[in-house]
Amino acid sequence: MSNENTSTLSVSDLKVYYDSINGDIKAVDGISFDVKEGECLGIVGESGCGKTTAAYGILRLVQHPGKIVGGQISLHGKPIENLNEESFRKIRATELALIPQGAMNSLNPTMKVGKQITDLIDTHKPGISSSEKISRIEELLGKVGLPNRTINMYPHELSGGMKQRVCIAIGIALNPTLVIADEITSALDVVVQRLVAQTLKQIQKEMGVSMIMIGHDMGLMAQMVDRIAVMYAGKILEISSTEEFFRNPQHEYSKILINATPSIHRR
Ligand SMILES: Nc1ncnc2c1ncn2[C@@H]1O[C@H](COP(=O)(O)OP(=O)(O)OP(=O)(O)O)[C@@H](O)[C@H]1O
Ligand SMILES: [Mg+2]
Repeated sequence: MSNENTSTLSVSDLKVYYDSINGDIKAVDGISFDVKEGECLGIVGESGCGKTTAAYGILRLVQHPGKIVGGQISLHGKPIENLNEESFRKIRATELALIPQGAMNSLNPTMKVGKQITDLIDTHKPGISSSEKISRIEELLGKVGLPNRTINMYPHELSGGMKQRVCIAIGIALNPTLVIADEITSALDVVVQRLVAQTLKQIQKEMGVSMIMIGHDMGLMAQMVDRIAVMYAGKILEISSTEEFFRNPQHEYSKILINATPSIHRR
């Protein structure tokens, strides 16, 4: 932890279990890592290894029958795991943003895109004038590569790639310091995946925001992330720079992942 002052997020021994009739399922079983300022960390691993649960654990969004069993989490070097709900909610709104797995299918179908972003801004940053809000939304849409007219469109009028871009816009709307993007490209076809990923990467660089990118696609990861963490059965097997990881993977499982490109998704 010597470089904690340059870490945006530091996670130590995080454990998230699910209650089941057969005892605890250790979905996240003591993982530790940090994300440095402006860094993009990739988390990879097969379906069910605990990636989404880890994200929810960090953001304290785990729901019954899940429970956070232990762990220390620091943001800019300050512990946050003992903050009360109210303070944590504030952090979640302003500092830590999640683009959830499947978000593009959870956009409100009855609400125009502009209104969905406006509501978010109203909830967390009340008191901003309407004209300011509109220019903010246009700025956000520009950042994610969508035309201004998207404001007046409903989700069903958008392609998958456009919907995912809206989700990214929502994710960065409040200027977070860390974005967790959970499988944001999985539901898209290959070409669109690349384009959306490139947009996200560009935004990350421009904003200098730290990022955790969860995904299956090793090819995409290779292009996107600075370091890769490999998860298996609730644990992190290895973390290394992307270059080092592909050149010299430490675990058999990592080699399997690399060789199994493009997709190892299974349920
Ligand atoms: N609500 C739940 N109740 C019980 N077990 C759960 C629940 N949600 C997840 N799990 C279990 O926790 C483990 C981790 O699930 P998680 O969704 O975090 O995996 P993941 O790595 O995100 O998978 P995917 O790549 O498919 O998104 C799995 O074994 C899963 O069965
Ligand atoms: Mg998941």
